[in-house]
Amino acid sequence: MCGIIGYVGDEAAAPIVYQGLENLEYRGYDSAGIALVNDGGGLTVAKRSGEVSNLTVPDAPDATCGIGHTRWSTHGPPTDANAHPHTDCTDSIAVVHNGIIENHEELRAELDAHEFTSDTDTEVVPHLLEAARADEAVPDLRAALERVIDRLEGSYAVCVVDREADRIVAARDGSPLVIGHGEDAAFVASDVTAFLDRTREVTYLEDGDVADLSADGDVEVFAAGDAAGSEPVDRGVETVEWEADAAEKAGYEHYMRKEIHEQPSALRQTISGRIDIDRGRVDLDVSFPPGFLADLEEIQIVACGTSNYAGRYAARLFEDLAGVRATVEIASEYDFGAGRSPDRTLVVAVTQSGETADTLGAIRRANAAGARTVAVTNTLGSTVTREVDDTAFIRAGPEIGVAATKTFASQVATLSMLAVAIGRERGALAAADARSVLEDLRGLPGAVQQVLDAEDRVRAAASEYGDGEAFFFVGRDLGVPVALEGALKLKEISYDHAEGFAAGELKHGPLALVTADTPVLAVLTAGGRASETMNNVTEAQTRGAPAIGCVSAADEYDTLDVSLPVPDVGTFEPLVANVHLQLFAYHVANDNGRPIDKPRNLAKSVTVE
Ligand code: M6R
Repeated sequence: MCGIIGYVGDEAAAPIVYQGLENLEYRGYDSAGIALVNDGGGLTVAKRSGEVSNLTVPDAPDATCGIGHTRWSTHGPPTDANAHPHTDCTDSIAVVHNGIIENHEELRAELDAHEFTSDTDTEVVPHLLEAARADEAVPDLRAALERVIDRLEGSYAVCVVDREADRIVAARDGSPLVIGHGEDAAFVASDVTAFLDRTREVTYLEDGDVADLSADGDVEVFAAGDAAGSEPVDRGVETVEWEADAAEKAGYEHYMRKEIHEQPSALRQTISGRIDIDRGRVDLDVSFPPGFLADLEEIQIVACGTSNYAGRYAARLFEDLAGVRATVEIASEYDFGAGRSPDRTLVVAVTQSGETADTLGAIRRANAAGARTVAVTNTLGSTVTREVDDTAFIRAGPEIGVAATKTFASQVATLSMLAVAIGRERGALAAADARSVLEDLRGLPGAVQQVLDAEDRVRAAASEYGDGEAFFFVGRDLGVPVALEGALKLKEISYDHAEGFAAGELKHGPLALVTADTPVLAVLTAGGRASETMNNVTEAQTRGAPAIGCVSAADEYDTLDVSLPVPDVGTFEPLVANVHLQLFAYHVANDNGRPIDKPRNLAKSVTVE
């Protein structure tokens, strides 16, 4: 939540910072703002509530250092006054912040001589910096920031400029921050997408780091220590492999539709070089200590939202393919659990961003309990990768739309490979059975492509049934997580009321809500106990509900109002059915003119608990 960007170099900073804000807008769009260090001293600050496009960029061609912010509100409503950057009493220091400063009230009380102009937690930072700079023992802006972050409780990524020099100092603890190395220029941002059109050479900061970026592009990083920030460290430089245009719309009206259509290629990347069908083996680069898998008693999956539903899908595969009990917890509710043996438990965090605070909290609780931990994530260098024993990257490429689509498919594919790897290593899965699952996995991108090629069918269904009063999504077995995900997608981007159920549960309550105005969408595929699910669909139809079914190619249900075919890919058919449901949500929302990539009140990366 919230995106921050800073640039210092030899070009005009305003357009670079503004472009960075546009690239980061998926992280929040309640307000946007820029602070520039004027040539010859002084700061120019512009900020405005609403989307980045509302912001008037200051005309300052000679300003070559600036910071910017796009906000997802936590403290204080989305007004101009609460927009970042925030400044001190003398307008000498400007700060942008992502995270939550939990002790801001206490700090504000200490700063009673200072004039505050916003309701935000962030505003304590420039005033604390102002106080630190007034102390002669504090030699410069970096030393001031080191002193200030010592006082902060909670999570932060901050970037700071002051009126005196073309220089940015930045620090992180609990919120992401990455440095970009340009030619005679340096960038700092919440995410590489902010500056990927300018450089792919990056340094990922770690919690406790303070970075000092100067006008010639030099960057120094200092690690927290006893004397905080006093020790320079080398965090290395990595090259981002994907190209900037992977994060652009490529002719699609919305990132979401582009990302839905990218699923075949994303899945190919996910699988590429990792499966050996002849031997029935998988190589995911995830390793376990000797004997660990043989003794494994339980796999606990922790995740939120769409990633949680991918985890639910996978839990069934872990039980079937790896022969291990698997549970799925909503990360914010997770506790390791009494009576479990940490040395016989594997905790798997599923998170597209790798930055979701609830999921990081769960992994920290698992680590504290002494369990072995694995992350399944899309994001290189993300916080989760540093907190776990091992990481399996899903390799879906950048996902910008707030609604997760291609990453759900790639998460399930990655988790299914992990299930095969563990099953084979434990001796729980025969080579022939592994081959069969891996064959289906290899067929998955083609099956998804067939669904995408038939988009007109689901577009027509969305247009005919999209004005329902509410929508119920049902399935059984592997169809349940897909029903939950289908409902989440629709409610998230269309704002329609949608709920997902295990189909058998309809008759235990929700059937009371079913009318002729509540379409039922059903997963009627292999892996989803289709004929039993169809019985429940018929019960809803008897009460007048129209029924849309995602149906295995081999089956036919004449009584459905709309039948959306799903090619034969065994265990992965519900995952393919999900693509129909993604497109249904997309077209309903689009028909209603919703801001699909930026649904109200949401943000892509949820870095608060
Ligand atoms: O980055 P993560 O996978 O950890 O994010 C988890 C959820 O916030 C995310 O899946 C959310 O539910 C999506 N907006 C759903 O489309």
